Amino acid sequence: MSSGAPGTARKPARGDLLELELAEIDERGRTLGRFEEFTVAVRGGVLGARVRARVHKRRRSGIEAGVDAVLAPSPHAAAARCPHVASCGGCSFQALDYGAQLAAKERLLARTLAPLAPARIEPVLGCESPWNYRNKMDFTFGRARWIEPGEPLDAPSGFALGLHARGHFQKVLDVRACEIAFAEAAPIVGTVRTLARELALEPWDVRARAGLLRHLVLRKSWHSREILADLVTTEAAPERVAPLAEGVLARHPELTTLVQHVHPGVSLVASGAHARTFRGTGVIEERLAGLAFTISAHSFFQTNTPQAERLVQLVCELAAVRADETVFDLYCGCGVFALALARAAGAERVVGFELSESAVADARANAERNGLAGVRFVAGDLALTLAPEQLALRSLPRPAVCIVDPPRAGLHARVLDSLRLLEPARIVHVSCNPRAAVQDLAPLLASGYRLERVQPLDLFPHTPHLECVFLLTR
Ligand SMILES: C[S@@+](CC[C@H](N)C(=O)[O-])C[C@H]1O[C@@H](n2cnc3c(N)ncnc32)[C@H](O)[C@@H]1O
Repeated sequence: MSSGAPGTARKPARGDLLELELAEIDERGRTLGRFEEFTVAVRGGVLGARVRARVHKRRRSGIEAGVDAVLAPSPHAAAARCPHVASCGGCSFQALDYGAQLAAKERLLARTLAPLAPARIEPVLGCESPWNYRNKMDFTFGRARWIEPGEPLDAPSGFALGLHARGHFQKVLDVRACEIAFAEAAPIVGTVRTLARELALEPWDVRARAGLLRHLVLRKSWHSREILADLVTTEAAPERVAPLAEGVLARHPELTTLVQHVHPGVSLVASGAHARTFRGTGVIEERLAGLAFTISAHSFFQTNTPQAERLVQLVCELAAVRADETVFDLYCGCGVFALALARAAGAERVVGFELSESAVADARANAERNGLAGVRFVAGDLALTLAPEQLALRSLPRPAVCIVDPPRAGLHARVLDSLRLLEPARIVHVSCNPRAAVQDLAPLLASGYRLERVQPLDLFPHTPHLECVFLLTR
């Protein structure tokens, strides 16, 4: 179907062929084209290309299509580096040059933030080096291996170690290379896979809820170059896990620490109770913003260390904390912003709030290590701990500045209520989900705050994700 006069086309149906100019991207990593008044989301299309696309799905939420033929290639096309680009759910935009990715993310951000009517959105701060930037990867073991294009359909498929195949959550893609993970990660994954198969260790079977091997978490410190590996298993099984761990350590002297955690439950999270340390201390040492951090297998830590440096710098600059001001770091994780700000405000004037007990324990240890033991950390759900009466019970003063870095879903309504009651002079909102940020910021703008600065930062090249920092003043 070719696009005719506006309003004359019927809504495209499953199986239709459409000619589309791929002009924008969306937050799900798809490229978008217009057909009459309809927006069509195309997987695998390169922004800037003209394609013939076949409609796969027609839903109330939108029309989805796949590329049938490229009619005119994109002037921004780049050679994808990763052999798994067609199957992996990780990087959607590898075949688009990095400058065009940033420009498209900027336009997507402008569309998303339109309800806030920002006076200006600063240009995205892109990565100097957009490859091998992830300092942490969580690989999954699975019993349903994804058969990649070009493989025979009857290829062995009962064991996999890698990442979930795009759109097929129960299937695991055997990762042989990953261009966004730190460079040492893929060879370690290869060794673990080979040894686990030789030792006939069973991978986790999502459907049957059985098997021994669940996750392999790998982390690297940018500063100390230490590398941590964590095997997450359903049971301790020392006689079966030890040969695997010892074999991996023998082949990878670069691994400074290897630990095992046990997670017998059904949830698909890579965490669990510590079972054993095979080498090293179970932690790596990282430096960020001139501070030292100890990171264990499951601590939250920003995954792109060089860009996290710029993020912390930006938060400190926008918070512009004076020596007499009290600062709250809400959703503080292991305390990165709290500790960086404590140098300006004074440790006694900074309080971090965080749900995870283990992150709070990390934050307290990090404060101690950096000579900032005066920083206080409150463990618990912010929906409760930020309520003014709870602050009074703890004898905490009202904050002049709040840093707010919530998870993807954004702020709980009660946290918003508390913020409005506390009336900090400045709020620095750090968001990994601009759509949720609109929900968070709109009520604050309606209750007397002004949006002073919007600064996006690309922490996740080749993916649709974008971090954005907002400064609100009263
Ligand atoms: C995006 S991370 C921010 C981490 C930290 N600002 C950093 O840069 O390292 C969000 C944090 O919010 C915490 N969190 C999630 N829900 C929470 C809640 N209801 N109350 C308090 N903290 C919560 C998570 O445990 C996580 O550490």
